[in-house]
Amino acid sequence: MSRNADPLTELFAAARAAQVKAHAPYSKFRVGAALRTPDGAIYAGGNVENAAYPEGWCAETSAIAAMAAAGERRIAEICVVGDGDALCTPCGGCRQRIREFADDRTVVHVAGPEGVRATFRLSALLPESFGPGHLKG
Ligand code: THU
Repeated sequence: MSRNADPLTELFAAARAAQVKAHAPYSKFRVGAALRTPDGAIYAGGNVENAAYPEGWCAETSAIAAMAAAGERRIAEICVVGDGDALCTPCGGCRQRIREFADDRTVVHVAGPEGVRATFRLSALLPESFGPGHLKG
């Protein structure tokens, strides 16, 4: 990866690299996700499907698991890339998984193979969300 790439290009490239490695033999719909923590670290992953279909999981979930395994707990921005003409926005479950580690500044980039197509605040994708603060009484 180029040292001179701008931060979003770098995040997109990480998502694309994860997309290529996704395990999606059933849907044939590979998805990649890459997230950046506030201190600049990037964690990425692809969707991992299973012959027992409901046991598969999404790209965002893989990226979040990689982040958590490294001991990190905050998402500054996340980029999700999928093929096709439609915007590959995170599914409902992944919006909630992102929310666990998100704050007001967290942005969600949605990309196709050619690059980023749209950028949202998580609050636009998951309004009036339930989060960790709700459990603090
Ligand atoms: N998928 C993701 O990885 N992320 C999303 O947010 C939407 C859907 C995956 C799950 C499944 O492996 C394939 O895309 C088709 O639904």
